Amino acid sequence: MKYVKIIGTGSSVPEAILSNSDLEKMVDTSDEWITSRTGIKERRIADENTAASDVAYGAAEKALKAAGVSPQELDVIIVGTITPDFIFPSTGCVLQSRLGAKKAYAFDLMAGCSGFLYTLHVAEGIIKSGGAEKILAIGVDVLSKVTDFEDRSTCILFGDGAGAAVLTASEEPGILSSILNSDGNHWDLLYVPAGGSRTPIDEEVLKSREQYIKMEGNDVFKVAVKSMESATADAIAKANVSPEDIDLFVPHQANHRILEAVRKRLNFPEEKVFANLDKYGNTSGASIPLALDEAVRQGKVKEGNLVLFAAFGAGFTWGASVVKL
Ligand code: UT7
Repeated sequence: MKYVKIIGTGSSVPEAILSNSDLEKMVDTSDEWITSRTGIKERRIADENTAASDVAYGAAEKALKAAGVSPQELDVIIVGTITPDFIFPSTGCVLQSRLGAKKAYAFDLMAGCSGFLYTLHVAEGIIKSGGAEKILAIGVDVLSKVTDFEDRSTCILFGDGAGAAVLTASEEPGILSSILNSDGNHWDLLYVPAGGSRTPIDEEVLKSREQYIKMEGNDVFKVAVKSMESATADAIAKANVSPEDIDLFVPHQANHRILEAVRKRLNFPEEKVFANLDKYGNTSGASIPLALDEAVRQGKVKEGNLVLFAAFGAGFTWGASVVKL
């Protein structure tokens, strides 16, 4: 075994749609502002009974079906999320139970919007070490549960969803490169202040709304563009391919202006960039696998194609990866 290959993808989003015009009734904003500054038109929102593992389950079932793999064959389940069902146990374990993946061990991994790229890299390492044959890698987030719907600078951005990929040991090329980075010096530019062990939720927290996402959007924006650009160049070089060889660029769907800036710097034609943020907003850890699955289902990529992923998120964390499907 030389490589680790994606052999099936799946995705799932909650049914309820929150449109820009719905948001106009909630905060001082406009469809025009949201569309021109972000490219987002609507997003999906989970109801009060739906948690990360519920959305992940839908994506997992589809990915397993596409791969022709049963839950019982899985060796490992890794869930990249920043909105787990509980502080503990892991969403991976809750999902394992629901899938009946008896043989697997399961855990969560937290790397913000870069969660799926970290998950892929960790899965690749486990398989290459001989520790597993088949891994279910998931990116899921239910950011609506930690979004402040009174804060117009953040509530217009985020949505809920999940994407999944089944990975297996292979003699054929699959993951060709992974570049991962983090810079913890900026942890407080994008975070949820309360609800962890530093500041447990109490009445003071609820009054100050510290249980919700705080973001310095403009600072994050600038670093995101530079970081995604350098990570993509590094991932392409490490994979020993040239930018022209890439069939589809599937970036983290944060903001169409970020996608456009990175696209221009990479000199990619528009048709080589996959975007679905108009329908789903920023779904954090779900964004790349959700976009990949849609690209597969729409026939934008097929087996043998080269796909480039790039992400940037809380931490800061960022990375890029070149994968042969
Ligand atoms: O996924 C993890 C990484 N996250 C990201 O990559 C997000 C990165 N950041 C962004 O996408 C952008 O910074 C935002 C979309 C969040 C904001 O766009 P911006 O162009 O950076 O706007 P800004 O924060 O500089 O705000 C410009 C103006 C401000 O008004 P003043 O001070 O110029 O009068 C804001 O108060 O826009 C105002 N504003 C809004 N106006 C209408 C902020 N949010 C809104 C809103 N509707 N929803």
